[in-house]
Amino acid sequence: NQIECFHFNLIDSTMNIAKFWKKVYVTEKISYAFLADQQFKGQGQHNNVWISPKGNCYVTFLVKYDPLLSYCLPQLSAISVIETLDLYIPQEKKQISPVLKWINDIFMNEKKISGVLCKVEDEHVSIGIGVNLNHSPVEIAGSTCLKSELSQQNDIDIFEFIQHLWTKLSNNLQKVSQQNSFQAILDKVQERMMYLNQKVKIYDLTLTNVLQEGIFKGLSEYGNAWLQSLSDPQEIEAIYEGRMRQ
Ligand code: BTN
Repeated sequence: NQIECFHFNLIDSTMNIAKFWKKVYVTEKISYAFLADQQFKGQGQHNNVWISPKGNCYVTFLVKYDPLLSYCLPQLSAISVIETLDLYIPQEKKQISPVLKWINDIFMNEKKISGVLCKVEDEHVSIGIGVNLNHSPVEIAGSTCLKSELSQQNDIDIFEFIQHLWTKLSNNLQKVSQQNSFQAILDKVQERMMYLNQKVKIYDLTLTNVLQEGIFKGLSEYGNAWLQSLSDPQEIEAIYEGRMRQ
């Protein structure tokens, strides 16, 4: 559970630092966290840019890779973010509890609040996590931040958030190794899936073409989406890739 942290004011991307560190220095005994106040070349999924103004969480955890994680790592990371965000949500605001949009986008109150980017290289994995804590970038329509969802005056403490995040993430990682199974993680993830039992469309990665339509029935044991045919409820297919929308 031990972690060594490196804090940068302004860098291109915490993913790049992790990649460099992995090549040169890494030992097996500990994990590392690279955090930045700001990134000028933040990386998102599908080669998108992750706009990274000051005031939010930008962290990459570099951990030893257990091949058992291969199917569930993005979801494991996303549920760890969700569990961390849960710590900040008071009972009376439970209706804004974060949910996971397949594959691994975290939404709160129907707006994107966080994203996860996992890169496996040999024996290690970089888990990059961006969470809008105090700012939702104006450039991104449909995004939100924790501070405004909580209608809070004071800024959320970024370091405290990252500490909680590491506790959740390392516990979930440990659970998979100890139980030699990621079923427990998938069970938790299922409960927090957006659009469950609702009609959805699966688009290609560029969001240009609709590839399929159906009812989203949850996750397979490998983290794929079960899609039930609209014409024949008996027909259920696993979807491996794509972007889910309504
Ligand atoms: C997404 O597109 O949803 C994933 C975004 C991941 C952003 C985080 S911020 C910390 C880490 N460094 C990066 O450059 N990207 C990830």
